[in-house]
Amino acid sequence: MFYGINPTQTEAWKKLTAHFEATKGRTIKELFEKDPNRFDKYSLTIANGDIVADYSKNIIDETTLNLLFELARETKLSENIEAMFQGEIINRTEGRAVLHTALRNFSGKSVMVDGKDVMPDVKAVLAKMKDFCHKVISGEWKGYTGKEITDVVNIGIGGSDLGPVMITEALTPYHSRLKAHFVSNIDATHIAEVCKKCDPETTLFLIASKTFTTLETMTNAHTARNWFLKKAKDEKFIAKHFVALSTNVKGCVEFGIDPNNMFEFWDWVGGRYSSWSAIGLSVALACGFENFEEFLKGGYEYDCHFREAPLEKNLSVILALIGIWYNNFYKYSTEAILPYDQYMSRFPAYFQQGNMESNGKYVDRNGNKVDYETGPIIWGEPGTNGQHAFYQLIHQGTKVIPCDFIAPARSHNPIGDHHVKLISNFFAQTEALAFGKSRETVVAEFEAKGKKESEYKDVVPFKVFEGNRPTNSFLVKEITPRTLGMLVAMYEHKIFVQGSIWNIYSFDQFGVELGKQLALKIIPELENSDEITSHDSSTNGLINAFKKMK
Ligand code: F6P
Repeated sequence: MFYGINPTQTEAWKKLTAHFEATKGRTIKELFEKDPNRFDKYSLTIANGDIVADYSKNIIDETTLNLLFELARETKLSENIEAMFQGEIINRTEGRAVLHTALRNFSGKSVMVDGKDVMPDVKAVLAKMKDFCHKVISGEWKGYTGKEITDVVNIGIGGSDLGPVMITEALTPYHSRLKAHFVSNIDATHIAEVCKKCDPETTLFLIASKTFTTLETMTNAHTARNWFLKKAKDEKFIAKHFVALSTNVKGCVEFGIDPNNMFEFWDWVGGRYSSWSAIGLSVALACGFENFEEFLKGGYEYDCHFREAPLEKNLSVILALIGIWYNNFYKYSTEAILPYDQYMSRFPAYFQQGNMESNGKYVDRNGNKVDYETGPIIWGEPGTNGQHAFYQLIHQGTKVIPCDFIAPARSHNPIGDHHVKLISNFFAQTEALAFGKSRETVVAEFEAKGKKESEYKDVVPFKVFEGNRPTNSFLVKEITPRTLGMLVAMYEHKIFVQGSIWNIYSFDQFGVELGKQLALKIIPELENSDEITSHDSSTNGLINAFKKMK
């Protein structure tokens, strides 16, 4: 049973509101002064010691957390978690189960959807991916002129792009001999620049689209096909150079892809949760199938934690609840994800889609407009680059931005003292954000330099840091396929927990439809020289200006 309960009508919400009013002035500094052992209390170690998650630098105490757990219980979170894992139709607006967890289910147990065990199909596609990867990487799979494949181009967008790009880049140290490229934007520049780097004789295209109808992907796929045929000349060669990753068998066949070259997945896999499916083929080719499998196993290991740990020891639950505390009570509307790992540079963008497409909803599960905040704005960049760009606002701006800091203890590139310097920043930033710098310290620093009060007094206010900026820190032994899989699953489940408590449907994305429909209507209007009058004056004006300019 999947419950839909308005969170604001619960007893816990009322108590949280009162608790917030009573404590809203308190600071992280005071909380640490009161309880110097916060780290022991408010940190969790998972993955057999390979991931330490510290959530002690938040404006929370025992009472806050207990009330948040009460909220989770009152909104039947545990029941909803079980409903998802058991394949209930929890994506009701699309009439689908939500089972990306089945794609990484190594329990040996079946997962039923509509009375059918999906695991045999999942395993069959994985076996097909494994065989295909071995053939391509070993060079057994040849292009139309008998040469080995050297370059793999994934053409997809949104969930059919961001996950593959992010994971492939994060796992760069594990790369096979194949060079992976990603084309997503309908701007021809994207595919044009990738094609410049490739040779049709040695390039394999993966057309990655759940629906196989997405305008951007289909346009890029046809352009790739034309580029290939310009040199290869004969359509029979397409079979050696184009494969499809999709749920739409008919669409793939119509495109001219041999069904043997199709890697299937199913409608119970959401686009933004599809990296674990055949959509991950670019990752498996770029990093080797065994590493892709390790990534899946990491996801499974985390699923076991999420499904089995009590709420009080459940990392995604805790992170989600702290997020709700800030989003709904403090009204902090954005969250930053800051990986201190250059290879993870696309991780924030990946969860920008993951989170904002899932929980960016204003209609609740009863079809009513909510009167409380739902999904936050997610953004971020790798440290330390972000420090020299937007951290000023995080430290001293008028907006408070809860941040997640992620860093590996071991670098894949242990060169000189780079890593120590990188990691010292990781520790220093969360310390500075939490505890700030008092007026007394600023004054003492000036005096230690022998300055007189008249020389420094005017500048003191600008050098004071209030602190009290909340952070979570995730220290990961090393970014490996397994730990990356765990981190991805951790955030996925955080999103699920928040959607469950906010009583919204996290697994549809109708919000992206309107723009798509209007764009399709505008395309024919751009193809003639008529003056356009069918829109509002702004849109008409812009279209007509464009027609004159082009
Ligand atoms: O942006 C909307 C969306 O449907 C995403 O959810 C999805 O990841 C993306 O488009 C791509 O869709 P498809 O895989 O069907 O091409």
